[in-house]
Amino acid sequence: MANLSITVRNVSAPEQAKTQALIVLLPERKTLPKSLKTLDVALDGTVATTLKLGDFTGSAGSHRWLPGRGNVQRVLLIGCGDASKMSVATAKKISEGLAKTLVGSAAVDALISFSGLPPKIGSISQLIEQISLQLSLAHYQYSHTLNQRKKPPRPLKRVTISTGDSCSVGDARRAVLAGTATGQGANLTRELVNLPGNICTPKYLAGEARRLARKTKNLSVSVLDERKMADLGMHSLLSVGNGSDQQSQLIVMKYQGTAAKARPYCLVGKGITFDTGGISLKPGAKMDEMKFDMGGAGSVFGALYAASLMSLPINIVGVIAAAENMPSGRATKPGDVVTSMSGKTIEILNTDAEGRLVLCDALTYVERFSPVEVVDIATLTGAIIVALGQEATGIFSNDDQLAESLLAAGDRSYDRGWRFPIWEEYHRQLDSQFADLANIGTGGAGSITAACFLSQFAQNYKWAHLDIAGTAFRGAPKGGTGRPVPLLMQYLRERAGKL
Ligand code: BES
Ligand code: MN
Ligand code: ZN
Repeated sequence: MANLSITVRNVSAPEQAKTQALIVLLPERKTLPKSLKTLDVALDGTVATTLKLGDFTGSAGSHRWLPGRGNVQRVLLIGCGDASKMSVATAKKISEGLAKTLVGSAAVDALISFSGLPPKIGSISQLIEQISLQLSLAHYQYSHTLNQRKKPPRPLKRVTISTGDSCSVGDARRAVLAGTATGQGANLTRELVNLPGNICTPKYLAGEARRLARKTKNLSVSVLDERKMADLGMHSLLSVGNGSDQQSQLIVMKYQGTAAKARPYCLVGKGITFDTGGISLKPGAKMDEMKFDMGGAGSVFGALYAASLMSLPINIVGVIAAAENMPSGRATKPGDVVTSMSGKTIEILNTDAEGRLVLCDALTYVERFSPVEVVDIATLTGAIIVALGQEATGIFSNDDQLAESLLAAGDRSYDRGWRFPIWEEYHRQLDSQFADLANIGTGGAGSITAACFLSQFAQNYKWAHLDIAGTAFRGAPKGGTGRPVPLLMQYLRERAGKL
C-alpha cells in the first residue's frame, strides 16, 4: 500500500511557498479574514472576489478551486462553517470534502494553511486529526487484483500542515500521528476485507499476521492449527470449518506497549473468510459479499497496527477465529451437537449462524490472559442491518461502564455505535432439548439472541460485543469501510490515558 506523508511545519508566508496546491481553510463569511490579506494580494484578489460574488460561502464541507499565481499552482478553498464551535461531526465533514477533492486532483503535493480560521479555536487538534485520518482513508485504493491500467496510482504524495498560531507544533504533530495511524490501521482492515475469498483464506490471514509482526514493533504472533485447537477442545470453532478444504486457524497477536505483567485488553475478531451458510446454504444473490465476513478479524489487525504506530502504553492481545464456512459431505449438519472448549454443548440448528460458533471458543480461550476487558468484533447478524442500517455498530455488553466507554468512543471519533439489551428474557430463546444451548433463537431480535449466545461464554470478565454487519462494508461501491477501527482506537487511547 502506497503511503501518503503528512508533516507539520509552520510556513510563515504560504502564498510564497512552492506548492502544487495551497489549501486555505475558511469560516462561513462574505468577507476576507484580515489574516489572509497578504495571501489574497499575492493571488491578485481572487479569494476576496470569490467570497464577495457569493461563489463560495464557506459552509462546512464546501470547496472551490482557484488558479494559483507564482509558486502556487492552484488554490483550494475549503469551507469550515462556523469555525468557532466545531463538532467532531463537522470536522469529519470538512475533512472528508477536503480529502476527496485533493486526492482526486492532479496535485502531487499540498500545503494546508489554517491562517484563515479564527486563532485558538478549541477543537483545532480534533480537526487536524480528522484531516489526517480522512486524507489517509481517501488515499487508499484497492489494487491487489487489478491492472495498473485500470487504476493508476494516486498522484498525491506529500501534504504539509501549517497551523500558524492556532495550535502548537507539538499538538499538531500528535494529532497528525493519531489520525494517520488510525487511517493506516483502517486501510489495512479495508485491504484484508476487500481481498477475495480465494486469496484471503484462514491461512492467508495467519501469514498476514506474521508479516505484520515482522514490520511492526512490539508485536508478536502465534498460530494454533486444527490439531492444537482439537487438543484444547475447541470443537465448536472446528465444526464451522468441517466442510471446507481450508484449514481453520486461531491467530493470536500480542502487542506489548507496557510492562509484560500488566493485564491486557483483548480484541477478538470473527474471521470467516467466506460464509456460504454451509448446509443451511445462503441464497445466491449478493453471496459474493460474504467475503467481507472477516471484517471483525480485519479490524483487529487494523487496531493492533494503529496501536503500535501510536506506541500506546498498554498491552493488547488480538485473537482471530478464522475459518471458511462451506457445505460438503463432511460439513456440519443442522441438528448436530458439538462440545465447546468451555464444556457447554451446542445444538447447531442453523449452520449459517457460524460466527458465534467460532467466537465462543475464542472467548473461552482468552480467559488465560486475565484480560482487563474483552471486546469482540463481528459481522454477526443481518438483523443488525435491519435495526441500525449502515450508520451505527451494534453494542452489547455485560458491563455498563464498558458499554458507556464504547458508546462515548464512538461519539468522539464519529464512528458511532448504539447499545442493545441482552436481558435474561431473551436468553430463553436459546434453550435446547438436546444441548446446553442452541445456536439460534426462535422469536425475533436476532442480533440480541446472537449476543446472548456469546455472553454465555464471556461470564468471567468484562466483555462487549460489536456487531459490525452494517458498518464494516458498503454494498455500492463495494468495499470495506475500515470501521470500527476509529471507534476502537478512541477507546484504546482513552484506556491508555492518552486522551
Ligand atoms: N455473516 C452473516 C451475517 C451477515 C449478513 C453479515 C449480511 C453481513 C451481511 C452471519 O453469519 C449469518 O449468516 N447470520 C445469520 C444468522 C441467522 C441464521 C440466525 C443471519 O443474519 O441471517
Ligand atoms: Mn452465516
Ligand atoms: Zn457469517
